[in-house]
Amino acid sequence: MTQQPRICDYGDSTYRQDFWEGQGREYEDRVERQVLAQLLPESGKRLIEIGAGFGRITNEYHMYEQVVLLDYSLEQLQYARQQLGDDGYLYIAADAYNMPFQSGVFDGATMIRVIHHFENVPAVMGQIGDILAPQAKFILEFANKRNLKAMIRQVLGRNGWDPYAQDPVEFVELNFNFHPDYMQEQVNQIGFELHQLIPVSWFRSAFLKRTIPTGILSSFDGMLQKTGLTYSPSIFLDLELTTQSQDQVDLGTNELTDILKCPQSGTTLQRDADVAISESGVRWGIYDGVYDFRNPLD
Ligand SMILES: C[S@@+](CC[C@H](N)C(=O)[O-])C[C@H]1O[C@@H](n2cnc3c(N)ncnc32)[C@H](O)[C@@H]1O
Repeated sequence: MTQQPRICDYGDSTYRQDFWEGQGREYEDRVERQVLAQLLPESGKRLIEIGAGFGRITNEYHMYEQVVLLDYSLEQLQYARQQLGDDGYLYIAADAYNMPFQSGVFDGATMIRVIHHFENVPAVMGQIGDILAPQAKFILEFANKRNLKAMIRQVLGRNGWDPYAQDPVEFVELNFNFHPDYMQEQVNQIGFELHQLIPVSWFRSAFLKRTIPTGILSSFDGMLQKTGLTYSPSIFLDLELTTQSQDQVDLGTNELTDILKCPQSGTTLQRDADVAISESGVRWGIYDGVYDFRNPLD
């Protein structure tokens, strides 16, 4: 892929109100938190939540000393900051295809309900591999194209695409479902070792969610998660970066000199009021405490 990949820009979308709040998705939210609680370590230094959105699940990462929320939408991050504050959090509006971080500065990363918006998976995986330290944990959730519903629709001839084919399917513009083997191949190529695969969200049916209490449905989901069967609509991968090519780096503490870099010039930054300036003079805005690395200031 030579062209710049397209970005699914949430901007000031009403994703929070239209998809989550009062929209009958307590079960999906509950089971995702269940899995995160199982996979997250007891403690950690710095985690990046890639595609954090409005910070729906950010409070699950409390065991890390610092959490960096990265999203393309400045507005979603501004909302997250209003809810979470600044203590232990850093807010970065940027494109995950071009992340403004120095190499190896995170010992943890998550990407939940996000990679389905990426048409160039190898490119974003390469970025993630670069910003993680050796032995870092990466929890990746992806939408599984070979799920039970798609398999039944395939038998009935109502799918329009093959759930067994390895290539990603773009079922709506910039919304992709992935084959489990394809995704494992992608993470392997970056040097991630798979520790666990957890199939999640087996009961995404409006009828079941209406008739069975969320707690009971989530317990059943928990049982199916243990099977490791890759036919659920959502799959979590528990990964560790095993590549030996990076030198062990000190994760540092100063956001300007130790963590961030200018995504255009690659140099470190200095801050002047609400502007971050690279050594080569590229200027980036900071709005309500959110760094904006999407487009430089004039
Ligand atoms: C479905 S939302 C998920 C938000 C959050 N992870 C959650 O589970 O509630 C997808 C998020 O990915 C972000 N996103 C999509 N493409 C991106 C890109 N290229 N760089 C950074 N963020 C991106 C969107 O702005 C949006 O907030």
